Amino acid sequence: MVRVELRSLKRVFSDGTFVGPIELAIDDGDLLTLLGPSGAGKTTTLRMVAGFIHPDSGDLLFDGKSVLGVPPRERSIGMVFQSSALFPNMNVFQNISFSLDMAGWPFEDVVARVEELADLLNIRRLLNRRVDEISGGEAQRVALARALARNPQLLLLDEPLSALDPQLRERLQAEIRRIQRRLNITTLYVTHSQEEAFAISDTIAVLRDGVVVQVGTPDEIYDHPSDEFVAQFIGDGNVFEGTVVEASGGILTVQSDDHHFKIAGSGARGDHIVFAIKPEDLRLGLEISDSLNGTVQNVIPRVGMYRVTVSLDGLSVVALTSDAEMARTLRGEIGRRIALTFDPHDAIIIRSSQGRPE
Ligand SMILES: Nc1ncnc2c1ncn2[C@@H]1O[C@H](COP(=O)(O)OP(=O)(O)O)[C@@H](O)[C@H]1O
Ligand SMILES: [Mg+2]
Repeated sequence: MVRVELRSLKRVFSDGTFVGPIELAIDDGDLLTLLGPSGAGKTTTLRMVAGFIHPDSGDLLFDGKSVLGVPPRERSIGMVFQSSALFPNMNVFQNISFSLDMAGWPFEDVVARVEELADLLNIRRLLNRRVDEISGGEAQRVALARALARNPQLLLLDEPLSALDPQLRERLQAEIRRIQRRLNITTLYVTHSQEEAFAISDTIAVLRDGVVVQVGTPDEIYDHPSDEFVAQFIGDGNVFEGTVVEASGGILTVQSDDHHFKIAGSGARGDHIVFAIKPEDLRLGLEISDSLNGTVQNVIPRVGMYRVTVSLDGLSVVALTSDAEMARTLRGEIGRRIALTFDPHDAIIIRSSQGRPE
């Protein structure tokens, strides 16, 4: 389809707020997700790629050629937004066929194309419905069919599922991914949901305050967050920092407030370490030991597991457990002391700096 390159693309708004410089490449046929909290610059970046916002500096290349001078409608782009923004006075068929009619397609070709898209998106039975007679999830399917109608070379999706309930969101994530793969269409996907980004992407670019802080495959980003922000944003917040009080045999004992953590790594006494432990790597124990102890704050059932929040003297830590009996016990005893253990090799060192020589 097309390879897209953002080269130091930057927009400065009149009040001085800026987004960029953004340096990114989306390979032909790949799905790249811009992931970041609200205000990070995701929509601005997507709109620069679409051509609705003109960058103040940098360049945007499609297959190696600058498209900055090309108006949005000539960039061969399909777009879907959070609110489907369907044409209210048209039925589903007319919404999907609109751009084809405008392009002067013969009627038989229009019908064939709309039916093909309707089959792809499982919305054939909706074609004659008015758009106020379909559900939110169906409306997003229609919006996607409309975006794909003219066979664009690039698909841009800005939080397309954020207004839907979680189950529907998950189902449509899988469908979008299936269709994207099937059509092999280069796609830029925007979301603030890390779960969604991990579910759908070939590549994730994490944005913060208008700049890309990390780019990688979902596994790379999950296993090796580049800084505290990424670790916190994707890892449920289990980020710690402290000082090495003992280093021996590849294991560092890190003191953070009154707690001692044993983590695998190299370093020396006095080093300052920032590290993360994923919720699934923390184990809960009812027997208090001399390791990490905290108080249970809450226990929330998730699909196939329980999410347990434990306070380590005010610092909230999240652990996931599939042990239903343990979870039931803890639910009945909020506030009890509990032990947390983990394999030192599961700790992820995000940053370490040498302390002052003693
Ligand atoms: N037209 C505008 N004028 C001034 N600031 C803007 C404008 N559009 C967006 N911004 C600012 O740019 C930043 C990024 O916004 P946006 O791209 O919408 O973020 P996101 O989509 O990640 O939530 C925010 O600080 C936002 O307030
Ligand atoms: Mg946005």
